Amino acid sequence: MLLHIPGVLTADELQAIRHGLESATWTDGRQTVGVQGAQVKRNLQVDANDPIRAELAALVESAVRRHPLFFAAALPLRILTPRFNCYQQGGTYGMHVDGAVMQVDAQTHLRSDLSCTVFLSEPESYAGGELVIRDTYGEHDVKLAAGDAILYPSGSLHQVTPVTQGQRLAAFFWVQSMVRDHQQRTMLFEMDAAIQSLRVSNADEDAIVQLTGVYHNLLRQWAEV
Ligand code: NI
Repeated sequence: MLLHIPGVLTADELQAIRHGLESATWTDGRQTVGVQGAQVKRNLQVDANDPIRAELAALVESAVRRHPLFFAAALPLRILTPRFNCYQQGGTYGMHVDGAVMQVDAQTHLRSDLSCTVFLSEPESYAGGELVIRDTYGEHDVKLAAGDAILYPSGSLHQVTPVTQGQRLAAFFWVQSMVRDHQQRTMLFEMDAAIQSLRVSNADEDAIVQLTGVYHNLLRQWAEV
């Protein structure tokens, strides 16, 4: 499931992040990938040790965590600290798959179930730079408004097409979900959405409570925490 999450960042947060990125230290994006990724990756990333990175990452992380759609779809157990990238002057990232296991710190690892990109540049301010995600239904081109996010399975092949004009800034991170299986997680998400609609339409309260119980009992069966 590819999920467009609108309005993750407020206008103020977006402005603060863009402003912070202006003074950040940028390094070659190839430093953070393996051999396969390094062959196709041409972009810049904010240096992991730059203190501004932690500050801006905390802004992005708290924004996604408070978004109900993100929580319902991702059911996050762990979120890897967001990183920031910049594509310009032909910068691109060819077709690849994200690493399955990421190091959080010396003791902790994260299994990448979901990848998330938060767009920071207005789509009309750059040419190219589509995030192309390939799944069983074909290829999907994603280029969203600044402040919006896309959530997609980390196992899907994807690429960022060359940015031929302007500058494409984005934040990105991985999520380990409490529910590992995509199909189970998708069913929970759809059930959650149906329960919310029933609530809004003032449907029979007993039936809503019963359905909510089923949702939680399925989550209890499937969650690894
Ligand atoms: Ni990737």
